[in-house]
Amino acid sequence: MILKSKHVYVFVLLSSSLLGASELRWDWSKIDVDAIKFSPNFIFGTAVAEHQVSGTKNSNWSRVDGAVDPKGITRIAHGDKCGIACDFWNRYETDIELLKELNVKAFRFSIDWSAIEPVQGRINKDAIAHYHDLCDALIAAGIQPVVTLHHFVHPSWFEDLGAFENESNNQYFVNFCTRMVREYGNKVALWATFNEPGVYVFQGYIMAKWPPFKHGINRAGVVTLNMLKAHIDAYQAIKSLPQGKKIKVGLVHSITHFDPYGDNFIERQGCDVLNGLFHESITKFFETGDFNWYCPVLSNIEYKNSDAKRSLDFFGINYYSHILLRVDGQVQGQAFRADEIKTDMAYCIYPEGMYRSIVDVSGRIARPQRIPIYITENGIADAKDENRELYIKRYVYAMHRAMEEGHDVRGYFYWSLMDNFEWTEGYKMKFGLYEVDFDSQKRTLRNGSKAFLRIVHNTYGTPDIKLPRMLAPAAAAA
Ligand code: BGC
Repeated sequence: MILKSKHVYVFVLLSSSLLGASELRWDWSKIDVDAIKFSPNFIFGTAVAEHQVSGTKNSNWSRVDGAVDPKGITRIAHGDKCGIACDFWNRYETDIELLKELNVKAFRFSIDWSAIEPVQGRINKDAIAHYHDLCDALIAAGIQPVVTLHHFVHPSWFEDLGAFENESNNQYFVNFCTRMVREYGNKVALWATFNEPGVYVFQGYIMAKWPPFKHGINRAGVVTLNMLKAHIDAYQAIKSLPQGKKIKVGLVHSITHFDPYGDNFIERQGCDVLNGLFHESITKFFETGDFNWYCPVLSNIEYKNSDAKRSLDFFGINYYSHILLRVDGQVQGQAFRADEIKTDMAYCIYPEGMYRSIVDVSGRIARPQRIPIYITENGIADAKDENRELYIKRYVYAMHRAMEEGHDVRGYFYWSLMDNFEWTEGYKMKFGLYEVDFDSQKRTLRNGSKAFLRIVHNTYGTPDIKLPRMLAPAAAAA
């Protein structure tokens, strides 16, 4: 998430309350990040999303390939196009060999609604069969499939109906969810309705960087609320199915705290408003049933539904970093402290934030509702592979520290198995444990990723499988 000063400025000027987030810092020189041990019941996995690893054909995002903004600038950085990305759709069998090499126990992927239902009401049987094959292959390899039903992408027909701008469209999403659970409910135990509604809304309805490229704080609030309502409806519809009783259904929320850069009144106020909109609006809803979307003058949406507190079997946290808001004389937006290590994305390494997020969600939602937390995404874009090892060790340590204090975290999914298409950042962002050569589709384990392998192998043992260092999926698939 990258902040644009203009928008932050509006929030900051209009803000009226006083809270301020507390920025936690540990002295890493005194911490032994290697002295941690996980029970073999803990689930280590990796995560991907279909559009990012395979591309999609009839979706809100397939339209972005080659599209330009009103100034004629390509929507995707460097004029990149998603295309077939890593061609995971056709290469999943050899990619499962990578998962076996890692020895992870779970794999999180998204089902592409636009492949299942490319035209409204018309179900594509090949796509249905494809996901059966993928689930079967994972299960045969001893890897649990974990499904996300909406990872920023939906069919173009749904986009044309206004997607989640119109509450009446929620029924289409709910139908898709129940159809998928009827199909795959016997194979998939863990389901997320949405991936990161806050990010979807921030990028698509405030920053206008992602489809549908709109600006408007009030509309963003309406969309957020409609997605939360769709989650509750989907949860209840799934639970009423025979397959629904035995599966776990949750939602994945990205937590990116806004922290004030200095000890400054305006920064604290700005952070309070931003945290309220993109973080609290969602966590408070699941904590209390109250939805509050408040930006002075521009928007004030209130809604209550106590079913929200009974609509999660687990809480998924995606955690990458925080954002330091700096306002001194003029709004500078995102800032960095001198000693912070930057990633290739516009944020730094901040593992303490993972700990804060777990403690927060645990105290307010997970513990009171007796549900577990999963870290459904965490990873670094690091093309030079300079900081991946440090990143992995420190974030896993931060999670472990929260677990030692009694917070119920059941799993950790590294983002991502392999380099893939990073939305409007295109292909320059290298999040993969495996490097992908997009010309040959060759996957190569990165050196820094070995820190993850070691943690997983220390937990479950080292797998027998010995892959050639350069796995060539094209040859293997032939
Ligand atoms: C998203 C992923 C994305 C990752 C890295 C998360 O917000 O769920 O789709 O690739 O962050 O930016």
